[in-house]
Amino acid sequence: MQSLQQKALEWSGVAGEDAFAIDDTNLYQKLGHQTFVDLSTNFYNRVYADDQEWFRSIFANSNKEDAIQNQYEFFIQRMGGPPLFSQRKGHPALIGRHRPFPVTREAAERWLQHMQNALDSVPKIDADSKTCMQNFFRHTAFFLVAGNQMMNEQQRCAHNPQHKQ
Ligand code: HEM
Repeated sequence: MQSLQQKALEWSGVAGEDAFAIDDTNLYQKLGHQTFVDLSTNFYNRVYADDQEWFRSIFANSNKEDAIQNQYEFFIQRMGGPPLFSQRKGHPALIGRHRPFPVTREAAERWLQHMQNALDSVPKIDADSKTCMQNFFRHTAFFLVAGNQMMNEQQRCAHNPQHKQ
């Protein structure tokens, strides 16, 4: 079976070394705390104002302020800052946390489009940092799509013992 990582690389089109280039520079030190708060605020303002109801509805049961904080604390932690997310919520376990949501390839592309626009709207983010983050986001988005698909398949099998892999 193809691993989730392999699927994420194939579907995202991001090369392996580019997907994890965020580990080569400390973007938290480079950009500062407030930049991540601004990025997530800008991103979720766009998500909650999306004119496409199918996408907006994925976030309908989440509180916008909480979603902003969840996201920037994770980004800060992942990009070289203090482990704010884990201190408050435990291991990120992103596939499991996205399980309730329809994380399809279409949803990933729309998420990424909003994030691209948000990245372009925060002046503190220079071109190199932007490229690093875009690759990480794209790879992670498709990693989540692959994880979501895997979980749905497992569930189908559990409900239908006749189902053969
Ligand atoms: C692929 C499309 C994606 C969709 C449709 C999606 C959807 C969601 C939704 C509906 C939530 C709940 C909002 C909340 O209450 O926090 C959420 C949370 C979150 N997402 Fe995503 N997401 C996507 C991609 C990503 C990516 C690429 C990342 C990271 C690079 C990410 C990181 C997170 C984090 C850290 C949380 C907070 C989890 C928690 O605190 O429980 N998501 N996402």
